[in-house]
Amino acid sequence: MEYITLNTGYKMPILGFGVYQIPQRDTERAVRDAIDAGYRHIDTAQLYRNEVGVGKAISKAEFPREDFFITTKLFTSGYQSTKKQIDQALKYLQTDYIDLMLIHWVIRDYHGTYQALEEAFHEGKLRSIGLSNFNQNQVQDILDHFEVKPSVLQNEMHVFYQRTPLRQFSKDKNIQFESWAPFGEGMNNTFTNDVLRTIAKKYDKTVAQIILRFITQEGVVAIPKSVKKERMMENFDIFNFKLDEWAMDTIRGLNEERSLFGWP
Ligand SMILES: NC(=O)c1ccc[n+]([C@@H]2O[C@H](COP(=O)([O-])OP(=O)(O)OC[C@H]3O[C@@H](n4cnc5c(N)ncnc54)[C@H](OP(=O)(O)O)[C@@H]3O)[C@@H](O)[C@H]2O)c1
Repeated sequence: MEYITLNTGYKMPILGFGVYQIPQRDTERAVRDAIDAGYRHIDTAQLYRNEVGVGKAISKAEFPREDFFITTKLFTSGYQSTKKQIDQALKYLQTDYIDLMLIHWVIRDYHGTYQALEEAFHEGKLRSIGLSNFNQNQVQDILDHFEVKPSVLQNEMHVFYQRTPLRQFSKDKNIQFESWAPFGEGMNNTFTNDVLRTIAKKYDKTVAQIILRFITQEGVVAIPKSVKKERMMENFDIFNFKLDEWAMDTIRGLNEERSLFGWP
């Protein structure tokens, strides 16, 4: 595993396991399989309604809490409601601190929501705080109004939407960029793309491994999701090779710089 150091000083595994669209009843099993496969970084959200399953799997694991990096995300519900929801997330996840809490997307009172995150950060309930689905102006707005900087910006990012200008902005502000949907959920025939297949053949790897290696080699955190243990293992096995500059540039050439999900 490779790690990046956040602007709070905490280390974050560059590869995590995402649990979006995993039903509550399957989540504990999926996260347990992911832990067996080697993952120690889990990405969930209030919206996914499976924080309880994540909490169960981690609390029953044979590894101590400190070995794990847990991210969750909250609705933008304003100051008072966010304070309550932070406590609820701690309870659901069976922990007394969360490694990273993100505002899931920008709506309504995101200043009040961020203020509650900032207070929970000072209280030690949240080790790092950050943003998801924010554009450059919205991130700048948070930087202009708050003392605690966001540590992470988690946005859609994959080979077809590489977010080059936003990633540069994040880097300049010392905010770690994180990719959601690193496979674009398989859209655009990602897994059968000819360019990616050629590179996969050259390295004797799968297309999924080439994609995750590309993203992490770009210095971006990736959180692929799978309900299948063999795919979890495949997706984890990316730290024993390095893409050369030709392969990196070729994959950079796939960028269409547009959302596959129709996000503005
Ligand atoms: N902040 C946000 O707004 C936001 C939005 C979306 C996602 N996310 C986070 O990002 C995580 C990942 O994104 P995502 O779940 O939307 O999509 P994704 O990881 O890009 O793609 C998941 C899809 O790829 C398949 N897959 C996984 N590994 C594979 C492999 N090695 N070969 C072939 N197919 C494979 C999965 O199928 P199987 O499960 O059947 O293997 C699933 O259909 C989420 O789980 C969530 O934690 C955040």
